Amino acid sequence: MKKIEDYIRTIVDFPHEGIMFRDVTTLFADPRGFRMAIDLMLHPYAGIEIDKVVGLEARGFILGGAIAHQLSVGFVPIRKKGKLPGAVISESYTLEYGEAIVEIHDDAIQEGEKILVVDDLLATGGTAEAGIKLVERLGGKIVSTSFIIDLPELGGRKKLEAMGKEVNVLCAFDGL
Ligand code: PRP
Ligand code: MG
Repeated sequence: MKKIEDYIRTIVDFPHEGIMFRDVTTLFADPRGFRMAIDLMLHPYAGIEIDKVVGLEARGFILGGAIAHQLSVGFVPIRKKGKLPGAVISESYTLEYGEAIVEIHDDAIQEGEKILVVDDLLATGGTAEAGIKLVERLGGKIVSTSFIIDLPELGGRKKLEAMGKEVNVLCAFDGL
């Protein structure tokens, strides 16, 4: 049986020289690959109470939507600045060059709701950290975080675990 990493394509020097881009579109496009990813991401949460899944733009929407459907819970998007139509709260985080801002609707999570945060990839952890902060500012409790890929050298997992958050990943790649 193929492993999760066998479905992930690596594009060398994208988006710029020296970066090995881990492309999950090949995983998403494969019927067994996509099902395997969703099934494995769900596995740790059997019997665990979750009220909502929060997905991080953009690939976290694809995964988070499928996971929320399987859990029969609602899905909440965290989007890049300026995309959500209602009242939002924002968090900024550091990118390789400059800063980015993510937002959540300020009524998307109720006090005390148990939240699973989902994205495709954990690199520096900046995106996930900003997402966690947004959820917690609305009173949500982070049950866990789930990703397909971890890039351990970039330290995201350590960052989230230092915040006291559970991190589940399906596979890890060396290098950037
Ligand atoms: C990528 C990836 C994660 C994030 C991880 O998204 O999909 O969301 O970077 O990096 P970090 O752990 O260092 O924050 P990107 O910002 O490229 O945007 P996209 O998902 O909208 O394409
Ligand atoms: Mg992303």
